[in-house]
Amino acid sequence: MSVLQKSAIAGIGFHVPERIITNSDLTQWMETSDEWITDRSGIKERRWIDHDGGASSLAIQAAKNAMEDAHVLPEEIDMVICATITSDYFFPGISAQVQEALGLNHVGAFDIKAACPAFVYALSVGDQYIKTGHSKTVLVIGAEVQSTALDISTRGRDTAVLFGDGAGAAILKPSDNESAILSTHLHTEGKYLKSLWCEGPASKFNPRISKEMLEEGRQYPYMNGREVFKNAVKRFPQVIQEAMDANELTMDDVAQIIPHQANLRISQAVAKRMKIGMDKVYSNIHKYGNTTAASIPIALTEARNEGKFQRGDYIILAAFGAGFRWASAAIRW
Ligand code: UT7
Repeated sequence: MSVLQKSAIAGIGFHVPERIITNSDLTQWMETSDEWITDRSGIKERRWIDHDGGASSLAIQAAKNAMEDAHVLPEEIDMVICATITSDYFFPGISAQVQEALGLNHVGAFDIKAACPAFVYALSVGDQYIKTGHSKTVLVIGAEVQSTALDISTRGRDTAVLFGDGAGAAILKPSDNESAILSTHLHTEGKYLKSLWCEGPASKFNPRISKEMLEEGRQYPYMNGREVFKNAVKRFPQVIQEAMDANELTMDDVAQIIPHQANLRISQAVAKRMKIGMDKVYSNIHKYGNTTAASIPIALTEARNEGKFQRGDYIILAAFGAGFRWASAAIRW
């Protein structure tokens, strides 16, 4: 059997809209308070797009930043994978817009719709393309514009206050040194589909969305917060442990956990269950809220820029979200 080619992250970057929405800004549209949002989630502000560019506009800028960081030229990229549940249009997905805007060759480009863990899913797919020798330079992006999907009123306050817009990207290349994506671990439990979902517009209905559905708010995300919370604090530690076990690592070997930024309380509960301090669990949710598929690459870039881990360190990416799905990746930086 031939030896598989390892892949590694050669560069990362992110981009968020300039428009800052603070918790107190939200009180002009709904009955809420800075105190409630901060206590329940740790979020102080989020970025909401101020133009009609859609998720592709953020994805393109994040990709440019990651390409610059990796010193990669457009003609070198031979695969594009975009993780998003908020594509500009119903189809064909933002990866086609990314290919065109970045002036890439006519390479493979597709979207992955796997909600919060989607960046880890996309990274896993990109890793396989490099391992098998199919691709040499894979652009992986997580990008979301959630603000235009939310019910920005008191009716929608339980989800509207949590989500933000943003994008992050990574360049994967073959590695001939210790840096590598060591393993990825992906899981799904579809019985919880309706605990965190957005029902329409949907192919199940004809027309895909009706006046009645719009009036009932079925075009907005619905979340059973407590059910999600309960499962998240169980699955995060499991999938982090799975990544450590697969690579014979202990928590002492791991420099930093980069979790999906869903709720500061979830990260704190995970740290407590895993008997580690919050200094090992990266958090920037106070600045951006939950940016779904974009949260991990944004957090990864900021953690790297803040010196939370160095070349040669072990880090673990971990996520939980709609599906329910959960995932992790063990990385030697
Ligand atoms: O990325 C996807 C993964 N998502 C997550 O992991 C999120 C997981 N869940 C959570 O983070 C938490 O469940 C939430 C932050 C969503 C909610 O926190 P909670 O402590 O579970 O609050 P709750 O839903 O039980 O609501 C408590 C109260 C309710 O009022 P009553 O019924 O007790 O009178 C809500 O109506 O808070 C009320 N409420 C609000 N009040 C002020 C709900 N949203 C708001 C709001 N402002 N924005």
